[in-house]
Amino acid sequence: MKPTQSKPAPAEPGEPATALDLLFVGAGEVFSDGAARTGVVVGVRGADIVYVGPADAAPAAREVIDLKGGLLTPGLVDPHTHLVFAGDRAGEYAERSAGTSYLEIARRGGGIARTMHATRAASVETLMALARPRLDQLLQCGVTTAEVKSGYGLTPADERKMLEVVRRLDAEHPIDLVATFLGAHTVPPGVDRARYLDAVVGEMLPDIAEAGLAEFCDVFIEKGAFDIAEGRRVLEAGLKYGLRPKVHADQLSAGGGAELAAEVGAVSADHLEHISSTGIDALAAAGTVAVLLPGAAMFLGSDDRAPARALADRGVPVALSTDCNPGTCHSTNLLLMLTLGMSRLGLTPAEVLDAVTVHAARAVGREAVAGRIAPGRPADLAIFDVATHRHLPYHFGMLPTRAVYKAGRQVYPTAA
Ligand code: NIG
Ligand code: FE
Repeated sequence: MKPTQSKPAPAEPGEPATALDLLFVGAGEVFSDGAARTGVVVGVRGADIVYVGPADAAPAAREVIDLKGGLLTPGLVDPHTHLVFAGDRAGEYAERSAGTSYLEIARRGGGIARTMHATRAASVETLMALARPRLDQLLQCGVTTAEVKSGYGLTPADERKMLEVVRRLDAEHPIDLVATFLGAHTVPPGVDRARYLDAVVGEMLPDIAEAGLAEFCDVFIEKGAFDIAEGRRVLEAGLKYGLRPKVHADQLSAGGGAELAAEVGAVSADHLEHISSTGIDALAAAGTVAVLLPGAAMFLGSDDRAPARALADRGVPVALSTDCNPGTCHSTNLLLMLTLGMSRLGLTPAEVLDAVTVHAARAVGREAVAGRIAPGRPADLAIFDVATHRHLPYHFGMLPTRAVYKAGRQVYPTAA
């Protein structure tokens, strides 16, 4: 996470010291935390929101921005991406549409291993140049915070290289990046399984934790990737180094990943197309966020759907994410995921908005600073050319984003 960019707000002579820098008025709706409010204005001083309420009680402002009926939301949060990678897998996508499965392609040496080879061969600068436009596209969707995973390096040096890329992108890009170590993505081809796990736990984790390069530790629990016992070992080792657990769980087959996530106190369990009813209960009891990635199932040509309704009705916070990666969801369009969250998962408009704001912020440990419009919080805001929150998912694959503010500063669009 980058330090908050605090903008000094020198008072002009004659202005009250409490004057606002920005006052957003005329929103069709201000949506935050499940509630769509009308007739509300939002005041910003420096990097923070300092006023949310009726216009007539708002302090004076240096600049009043008339939203002319647009929708004002918190800056969106994309809580699960693999957006640092080299190469592409368009050939695999074509093979899949002709009927070959993801796991079959992986068995033949494609899949994660193909991206691993390309990512290992790329320099830090090349990986940054490839990832920048992806971040710009997220920003264009209204995203101000995003999680990024390693997992295409799969050696101590290459995993570290990926996380260095995340750190450098975080420093230069307006989007706040949250780094996750995913050394346990798959066993690299030709490497002994036990040795690889020893390296993840004994070399990579301590090195990455020592360098402060990741906050979270993730594992891919799946046939062909890692089993429950292996996942537990990695996540417990991560906890020892202060890395909070996340789990790729029950994506392609039921495997008890959700139960493991609950057992280790994971902040999120992600995918969940094949979660069991015991798994749903376990997540509810543990307070683990369910991060659902409906773009991945769709891109894989699968009709699998995570039981979003059952999860939400059980009280599990449901988040939505792009899963942006070259294999299972080559997309940065978080707004499209809102539409899929409704059409494929049965969530309501308010639920899909919460899924990319308040719940997504919790899934990346940013619940205190992101995902809500409230006084005292950073002024991370998105403005859309739609009248109500219901119209945002209704714009299927469109990008009605008008402007994005990060810590009180307009970061999209920017002057050319
Ligand atoms: O979230 N499930 C594992 N990881 C990614 C896919 C990675 C890849 O195929 O490159 C996912 O779907
Ligand atoms: Fe993923």
